[in-house]
Amino acid sequence: MTSVFDSVRLGELPLPNRLVMAPMTRNRASADGVPTPLMAEYYAQRASAGLIIAEASTPNAVGQTYPNITAIHNDAHVAGCVGSPRRCGRPAAGCSSSCSTAGASATPTTAAV
Ligand SMILES: Cc1cc2nc3c(=O)[nH]c(=O)nc-3n(C[C@H](O)[C@H](O)[C@H](O)COP(=O)(O)O)c2cc1C
Repeated sequence: MTSVFDSVRLGELPLPNRLVMAPMTRNRASADGVPTPLMAEYYAQRASAGLIIAEASTPNAVGQTYPNITAIHNDAHVAGCVGSPRRCGRPAAGCSSSCSTAGASATPTTAAV
């Protein structure tokens, strides 16, 4: 019988097990959205999951609707996001980012509505 601890291939991704972590914003980025060492530690503690879907990252400054959420719209954000899986000791781990649109509040033309 198949177990959640059995490996599986998810498209291009070979996963060591079938445990997939749902994205959960932890509000541990810096005030301007750069991932922090505390976040790397958080993901390292969960690195035995088959796949981690990382917390939502906002694609622009207007969409930073909560304090200390991760962002992905400048070089420091990108470097931090790429570095976190490396720092958690599993450079080949399945780690996917997710994008937070924050609905109309993230769109400059509608943010003031
Ligand atoms: C504290 C917290 C933070 C969350 N952050 C995100 C997030 O960043 N992106 C996302 O897509 N879902 C986020 N979610 C939703 C969860 O991934 C999950 O889909 C949701 O909690 C439903 O699962 P449940 O019924 O088992 O709680 C968050 C949920 C919680 C409780």
